[in-house]
Amino acid sequence: PLTAKVNSSDCLEIGGCDVTSLVAQFGSPLYILDEETLLTACRQYRDSFKSYYPGESQVVYASKAWNCLAVCAIVHSEGLAVEVVSGGELYTALQAGVAPEKLYFHGNNKSVQELELAIASKCTIIVDNWLELETLASLAAKELPTPIMLRLTPGIECHTHEYIRTGHLDSKFGFDPHQIDRVLSFLSKNPQLKCIGLHAHIGSQIFELQPHQDLPGVMVEWLKKAADYGLPVTHLNIGGGLGIRYREADDPPSITEWSKVVCEAVTAACEAQQVPLPKLMCEPGRSLIGSACVTAYTIGSRKEVPEIRTYISVDGGMSDNPRPITYQSVYRAVVANRMSLPLQETVTVAGKHCESGDILIKDISLPPTQPGDILVVPSTGAYNYSMASNYNRVPRPAAVLVKDGEANVIIRRETYQDLVRCDRLPERLS
Ligand code: LLP
Repeated sequence: PLTAKVNSSDCLEIGGCDVTSLVAQFGSPLYILDEETLLTACRQYRDSFKSYYPGESQVVYASKAWNCLAVCAIVHSEGLAVEVVSGGELYTALQAGVAPEKLYFHGNNKSVQELELAIASKCTIIVDNWLELETLASLAAKELPTPIMLRLTPGIECHTHEYIRTGHLDSKFGFDPHQIDRVLSFLSKNPQLKCIGLHAHIGSQIFELQPHQDLPGVMVEWLKKAADYGLPVTHLNIGGGLGIRYREADDPPSITEWSKVVCEAVTAACEAQQVPLPKLMCEPGRSLIGSACVTAYTIGSRKEVPEIRTYISVDGGMSDNPRPITYQSVYRAVVANRMSLPLQETVTVAGKHCESGDILIKDISLPPTQPGDILVVPSTGAYNYSMASNYNRVPRPAAVLVKDGEANVIIRRETYQDLVRCDRLPERLS
């Protein structure tokens, strides 16, 4: 986080709060979200789009990265819109006070119930496929057309983990572009659906700029087509995907660089194809919140396998951060209470789950540690809490929001009672 520093007791401080004191007060493991870093990223996106795009723009937070009341409220207060992908995320954003006109509902298999909730809440629905389009056409009311956008697969490849690529034609998301005429023609005959724009997203944790430079050319062609069908398409959403730095060697473009490139590419594509500038939207998740959070763990047991490896175990793991086991993601770490000690040993940080693959960090250099030391893993703001589970019936950690020396719990720690809250014991077993 931007506000991290080492204080006079050689301890890590974030948002003016000593991390070891936070753990003492709020327990371990603990997600620590630095409000300043999140606000700065929101402003960088917002201001870059304002300065590099000559038309109107709207930055949308992809809340799947971390959806909870406080995060939705913070990004909304910064003027960002919020993208949701389930009834649960939509409900949370609404509860957080996000205005319906700033809510965008994605998903490749929304249920009828979810679609009804979306229509009732008056958010914009990003339609992904034929079943959804036809269902919406029958649910939407003529008197009050439902605002929608169309998601199309752009056929653009990028280099990232295969699980998080979405732009290639063989993707489960969005309409195949070969069907665009059929879809637009359907829409022109169904005015209860008001198609305000088009959407595409090519993938996540992307460091290259080229795919995002190529995308607008394809999308502006579609815009032109949609206008030919008489549809009021005024919005163009180019998705998210900008990567962040997890490893020392990672060198992603900055938010400002990325924004400049995409804004210029959209402007150029519109000029080339003589299409009026649409309202330009982008939809970042990871690059808005990823670097704003760290996870603090308490170090416990140690196992030395002579000449092979030393394991140190922490009190969390794949249940609070499933990314290493899912995508082989590489994380860094520091020992919060020994910040300036030399890095003297190479260890492997293991989680506490009953699974050999539950390794948070393989072969990392750390200072000598003892049980009770606090290990801090940075860049855990995106797809950590949101993908957390109760595997092994481990309660999910608490999250605190820190700013100017103040810490507020934004998600309370789960209790054992929470774990059995939905369990039922048939009478004959009790
Ligand atoms: N828009 C759409 C339609 C998306 O599907 C996504 C991410 C985003 C925006 C935001 O992408 P971002 O800016 O965060 O890259 N769980 C995986 C990442 C899955 C991304 C899914 N979609 C991970 O932990 O790496």
